[in-house]
Amino acid sequence: MADKITAPSIYAMKRRAEKVVCVTAYDLTSARIADASGADLVLVGDSLGNVILGYDSTIPVTMEEMVHHTRAVRRGVSRALLVSDMPFGSYQASVAEAVSNAVALVKAGAEAVKLEGTYTEAIEAIVNAGIPVMGHVGMTPQSVNQFGGFRVQGKGTQGEEIFEDAKQVDASGVFSMVLELIPATLAQKITDAVDCPTIGIGAGPHCDGQIQVYNDILGFDDTRLKHVKRFAEVGSACRDGLKQYADEVRNGEFPKEEHSF
Ligand code: KIV
Repeated sequence: MADKITAPSIYAMKRRAEKVVCVTAYDLTSARIADASGADLVLVGDSLGNVILGYDSTIPVTMEEMVHHTRAVRRGVSRALLVSDMPFGSYQASVAEAVSNAVALVKAGAEAVKLEGTYTEAIEAIVNAGIPVMGHVGMTPQSVNQFGGFRVQGKGTQGEEIFEDAKQVDASGVFSMVLELIPATLAQKITDAVDCPTIGIGAGPHCDGQIQVYNDILGFDDTRLKHVKRFAEVGSACRDGLKQYADEVRNGEFPKEEHSF
């Protein structure tokens, strides 16, 4: 097995100009597949709210849900760095609460946590507690109500605000930072200005790495998003397989002698 990936090794990849490959996972099966693919970082994203639990956004996701899914993913990841998202409400109210919720995710198996925005005191306190933190700026989905929808952020003069946010988060000691749904030119400017690796999603090709949602890039459903390339068509393969199973049960072709005892 190739060497275990750690937060310091992700940080060091920027110095060697090595792209960081990141993907989400939510359960044992997706975790095993992501780890076996050679991804450097597996994120138990709070996107599990939309992707797995059927919520309209990440806002309803709870600590209990993140802990539950982190435990499952932990059992499937051995090489990649395992990062868990801190859900909405788990770090905003106080620094003490942020630290204890980060600790709960680490006890469930995470090796680092991710949180959205410029909560620099919380980031510093979590890092001081010995837990690496991944930042997240740009279109931060937990603030969707403030943005008025899931749309590209940082166009025009607003770009300067996001640039300053990124520098502030970098200075607070994160080992990497997600840049979500911002213009590629802004992502390039941030990437050049910060020490930590930038991990883009809908932020163009100049970031130090990329992250994508497992179900999106593997084509589990019919949603088409501009920042997503589908590298497989798993949804239609599953539908075809299940249809064939149903046909064979109905016409008596399955099971045969070879499947019987
Ligand atoms: O929740 C998530 O999946 C994420 C990534 C896509 C960055 O935050």
